[in-house]
Amino acid sequence: MIVNQLTQHRASLIILIMCKLTEIKKIISILTILILANVCRAQLNDERMQWFADAKYGIFIHWGIYSLGNTSESWAFYNKQVPYADYMAQINQFSAERYNQTQWAKLAKQSGARYAVITAKHHDGVALWDTKLSNLSIARQSPAARDVLSPFIKALREQGLKVGIYFSLIDWSHPDYPGFTRDSNRYNVADDTLRWQQYLNFCHGQIEEIMQLYSPDLIWFDGDWEHSAKEWQAEKIREIIHRHNPNTIINGRLQGYGDYDTPEQNFPVTRPNLKYWELCMTMNSSWGYRVNDTNYKTPFEIICILTDAISMGGNLLLDITPKANGLIPQEQVETLNTIGRWINKHSEAIYGTIPGLPQGHFYGPTSLSKDSTSLFLFLPAKTFGQIMLKGISSTINKVTILGTNHQLQHKVVGKISWSPVPGLIFIDVPKEQTDSTMTVIKVEFDEPIKLYRGKGGLN
Ligand code: GLC
Repeated sequence: MIVNQLTQHRASLIILIMCKLTEIKKIISILTILILANVCRAQLNDERMQWFADAKYGIFIHWGIYSLGNTSESWAFYNKQVPYADYMAQINQFSAERYNQTQWAKLAKQSGARYAVITAKHHDGVALWDTKLSNLSIARQSPAARDVLSPFIKALREQGLKVGIYFSLIDWSHPDYPGFTRDSNRYNVADDTLRWQQYLNFCHGQIEEIMQLYSPDLIWFDGDWEHSAKEWQAEKIREIIHRHNPNTIINGRLQGYGDYDTPEQNFPVTRPNLKYWELCMTMNSSWGYRVNDTNYKTPFEIICILTDAISMGGNLLLDITPKANGLIPQEQVETLNTIGRWINKHSEAIYGTIPGLPQGHFYGPTSLSKDSTSLFLFLPAKTFGQIMLKGISSTINKVTILGTNHQLQHKVVGKISWSPVPGLIFIDVPKEQTDSTMTVIKVEFDEPIKLYRGKGGLN
């Protein structure tokens, strides 16, 4: 009897273990499926982001009724520097009479940009295109009397540049938008959700209109800070965009629903959080054209900033400010051309590269070819003589000055035969071979570069 009970007990124990095992197996297969799905999603996302990651440099264009040059864009009335009516009256002088979209697109291309982002609508609510959802547009109210956005989008595509559209979520002119000036609100969202929904219908409607008309490669939102993701219905915005074009990239100003980080003006010292990022920066101190703003960054300074961004895996979106008549200020044209000449000579070190060496190996920005067999060293202006590389375990094949094919000598210093710690590499850069703006050195290896990251000494 007892023996029988024991056998029964053992049998149920075995069945229990078997059940548990099948459960565990089930859980493991579900987990594997989930992990695989995530890997696939990340891969698809990387494919979608690839052109952006490879592009490195884009042109930002702020053009609107503020481009007469006397006030800042939108903020002028928000911060009460000018009365709202005076600010809006600028629309009566927006002529676009010298506007040549092909010249704009060619200039961007010549400058080395792979994409451009233009303000379809800033916080003041004035649309550059002929929106069917409002009368507040250049087409309907300005002497330019036409849609000035569509021709530029077409010209960009003709030049083979990717199309980015800036769209302000904020619309301080819309009667159903809560915010108006820094100390006056029309209403609070919580007190009138119906009115807020009316605004959202309009805002989402304009986004849909933009997607239908242009199906841009990139949509660049601004002003998300005034409301939460829930209030903007950010998830729905993303869904509207991707319903029209699943490949459209969204910048980081959609309360957590964007594809890349968007630091503005202030340069990051460590890499931003998201894998992809883009620094947007003015060429002088203003986003829109200002008659008196001559505080220009030099081409050298901009190139320094560009290479630093590339070194950390980011892009530079450099702003230009056409005037209300459509002319681009001469200083900006010249700077863009100088940058273009430099980029053209050094394109291999820029487009399609991946982030360079981590801090500590070289005193300057660097980038790597996708297969990591070529390392590019950007030398700050007029650097020549011996430059030093540290912690490079791979053997160097060849060193050249990029854009010249001039081969350089190098020397390994301090290598101890029995130690795994690599020696220091000194490369000789002759003064006569340097670039007048910034020299780039190409260091080639016959394997993907290996780095030593230790603390020296015996290991
Ligand atoms: C800002 C400003 C704006 C400018 C923009 C560019 O946050 O509101 O005027 O257009 O960023 O990044």
